[in-house]
Amino acid sequence: MFTLKTLSLAAFVSIGVAGALAAGNDTKNGLGARPGLGAPIPESDIKAWDITILPDGTNLPPGSGTAAVGAKLYVEKGCDQCHGDNAKGGRNPALITEEKMQGQGIETNKTIKDFWAYSTTLYDYIRRAMPWPAPRTLSDEEVYSLVAYILAGNKLIDENAVMDAKTLPQVKMPNHDNFIVRFPERI
Ligand code: HEC
Repeated sequence: MFTLKTLSLAAFVSIGVAGALAAGNDTKNGLGARPGLGAPIPESDIKAWDITILPDGTNLPPGSGTAAVGAKLYVEKGCDQCHGDNAKGGRNPALITEEKMQGQGIETNKTIKDFWAYSTTLYDYIRRAMPWPAPRTLSDEEVYSLVAYILAGNKLIDENAVMDAKTLPQVKMPNHDNFIVRFPERI
């Protein structure tokens, strides 16, 4: 009798045969037998996902921004709805803080100013993840301005400073030297 089990077995066998046939075509590239499925990824597709910015600023895009523009964007893009007026905190963390980290051990509020080791992470994070309901909708220029707004608000750069691929990596975060690199030889 032709049961569901034999049907799925037949499907399995035919997929296997198709795979084996395709594999034959692929051996000439020196990689050995492969299923021959899929297509090469176009460079443009890789670029769209290859957005990681390294601590030293590698991969920062062209463009620039200032705190004044960032302050406007902060409201226009709805950041204030979650991070509060003037980024002082709302239902989600404050991005601009006055007080220094208090000695509360692991419970200490880990703010951007007092805890983040690299200014460049701010760029990577905002471009990748914010605004929370619509990540990756900000332009590269807008991200520079929002970063400038947060850095200037935390008094880490002058309020008129222009942030770009050159200036942003030069901003040293206050707590930078207190991080311990577990495996320095791997960097
Ligand atoms: C709907 C709410 C919401 C909106 C709108 C929003 N955020 Fe956030 N944001 C969050 C949440 C939630 C987190 C914490 C995420 C986590 O810890 O995983 C966060 C974290 C952050 C952080 C890291 C803070 C830290 O100390 O770790 C930054 C920087 C940030 N947001 C910037 C922005 C900017 C800039 C905008 C506007 C373009 C924005 N956010 C809009 C909810 C929001």
